Amino acid sequence: MITKKTPAEIEKMRIAGAVVARCLKDISEQIVPGKTTTLDIDHMSEDLIRKYGAISSFKDYRGYPNTVCVAVNEEVVHGIPNGRILLPGDIIGIDLGAIVDGWHGDSAITVAVGGKASDEAMRLLRVTKEALFKGIEQARPGKRLSDIGHAIQSYVERHGYSVVRDLVGHGIGRSMHEEPHVPNYGAPGRGVRLEEGMTLAIEPMVNIGTYEVETLGDSWTVVTKDGSLSAHFEHTVAIRRDGPDILTALPTEEA
Ligand code: MF3
Ligand code: CO
Repeated sequence: MITKKTPAEIEKMRIAGAVVARCLKDISEQIVPGKTTTLDIDHMSEDLIRKYGAISSFKDYRGYPNTVCVAVNEEVVHGIPNGRILLPGDIIGIDLGAIVDGWHGDSAITVAVGGKASDEAMRLLRVTKEALFKGIEQARPGKRLSDIGHAIQSYVERHGYSVVRDLVGHGIGRSMHEEPHVPNYGAPGRGVRLEEGMTLAIEPMVNIGTYEVETLGDSWTVVTKDGSLSAHFEHTVAIRRDGPDILTALPTEEA
């Protein structure tokens, strides 16, 4: 069942979403190329989530051992923080979820360590972020669920990249993962009709090469099968009468 949220509940989710947005911004500003490890990012995440009065959505979720997922280069998602030092030109997906007053926010960004990477990597980041916004544009009453994935897939493939099939976005609210699944691919005009009050985490994962992925022996880290670079962006979005409302954006005065 898809649970619809009232405007007051959506405001509660926006508080959790703002915590996630601030954490992601603070983390990306604190990374020192050649020094920061992915485990340092985990510690930063723990400290920041606590500082902003929230708790982690991820820690202990189905046995997940950390607070954040950090996916480096050919890693797609669910990278477990470890002692790996981040080097200039690496691209890293940072995926974070926080709970405030029982409501979840979930968002991810992919950034270049040190602010720049290869032209191809920078283009991948731009196209993936733009694809997320193409999907978000479809999150409005009267559209159908698969219009989101269709918009994402069309945009990504038009730019020569591929969309991961094995992992999808999700409904979100009092739980991090609620119905429905939100695929990033598919034919338009299928699935449930989108209605005011639905809240979705939309999260395209885009690879330069094949869309196929595999999971490493740690049973979490997902990597591209061909070793090509991958990027991931995610926002928690509420469907409002007049269109999408991004709950994991920074409040405008800070954006
Ligand atoms: N944002 C991811 C998701 O939506 C992260 C959850 S993975 C976790 O599925 F296990 F670390 F929680
Ligand atoms: Co998610």
